[in-house]
Amino acid sequence: MTTKATRADQLREVAHPVFNDRRLRLGTFSTNLSGGCAISTIEGVLEASWEQTLSLARMGDEMEFEALVPVGRWRGFGGETNFNGAGFECFTWAAGLGSATERAGLFVTSHVPTIHPVMAAKQATTIDHISGGRLALNIVTGWHAPEIEMFGAKQLPHDDRYQVAQEWIDIIRQLWTDDEPVNFDGKYFHIVDAALAPRPLQTPHPVLMNAGGSSAGRHFGARNCDVVFVNTDIGQQSPAGLKEKVDEFKRLARQEYGREIKVWINAYVVQEDTEQEARQFLDYYVNQKGDWVAAENLVRSMGMNSQSFPQETLQEMKFHFIAGWAGYPIVGTKEQVADTLIALTDTGLDGVLLSWPRYIQDMARFQVETYPLLEQAGVR
Ligand SMILES: Cc1cc2nc3c(=O)[nH]c(=O)nc-3n(C[C@H](O)[C@H](O)[C@H](O)COP(=O)(O)O)c2cc1C
Repeated sequence: MTTKATRADQLREVAHPVFNDRRLRLGTFSTNLSGGCAISTIEGVLEASWEQTLSLARMGDEMEFEALVPVGRWRGFGGETNFNGAGFECFTWAAGLGSATERAGLFVTSHVPTIHPVMAAKQATTIDHISGGRLALNIVTGWHAPEIEMFGAKQLPHDDRYQVAQEWIDIIRQLWTDDEPVNFDGKYFHIVDAALAPRPLQTPHPVLMNAGGSSAGRHFGARNCDVVFVNTDIGQQSPAGLKEKVDEFKRLARQEYGREIKVWINAYVVQEDTEQEARQFLDYYVNQKGDWVAAENLVRSMGMNSQSFPQETLQEMKFHFIAGWAGYPIVGTKEQVADTLIALTDTGLDGVLLSWPRYIQDMARFQVETYPLLEQAGVR
């Protein structure tokens, strides 16, 4: 009797970096946008220049990061910084980096309402070829209504967006895998005799990611994707609190969809010589130099400003967005940073996307001082 290869077996077979057997997989987050993940006016936050994004990608490549994940963003959040207002479009960004890097997994973040699935399938395939099979497609439905409306599309109700995304990814998957021309007559898309050649290098099709946190989003991820994300709850920032979430997501995928998924988290790193200095710097770039107006605009657009969020929680939420896109806080000395990353793997998490406030200089320091500790600990 032959055992049918699972999707995870297939991806291990095609050797996509996110399916390697390291204990700790790493990535960068939002290196394509001004500000990166830090909503602050301090010196050294990321600029949207090719030179800067390329230098971060090269550092990630040298450390064999499994994931360089850009953010799909079409307009900024105002305030003094107009946070994320300048930036590179994700498909073309990944195509450029495909030629300039050798090992890192290259993610493309695609807002469903901004690109037709036939085009997305073709562009993603092209990047898979440029990069030698390192592409991953991050499917986002879009929560920032003003940027979706830039495309002349009306923002649909929340769960309907995931229905559109389901049709969108079904079409892409068929284009990537079917021998016959694709015909599709859905509620949102009508496709007649669509063809795609060549096929992506990753067979049967490239790695898929989604980072939805709602029930509809989590079901979408569990049903369709290979890499999903858990978020960091305010006031629940301990590795122990995460284990339950990770287990629950993996259980959902296994029980309801018969699938194995990789669960990641995004985190921000504030590293100094002492823990006290790290905490002081965090306080400085968030409380004293943070762009609280941009953060207010961001959380309001995300729908977090509803009355169900008490003022205190809201303030804390903004703090974490300013500090690093509400990621898991990793604050302290190089040893503490390494230990926290190792502790995160003990929760069953498969990978961690990182960002730093002064992206270039802080990531360079991580590469020299902290990364070797992870290698010595045997997790990389
Ligand atoms: C790691 C990560 C990457 C994300 N990338 C983007 C992005 O590039 N663009 C975007 O509009 N939303 C992005 N999101 C938001 C999610 O796709 C999702 O819409 C959000 O978490 C809300 O969940 P929901 O859609 O299930 O309500 C990201 C979230 C995470 C955690």
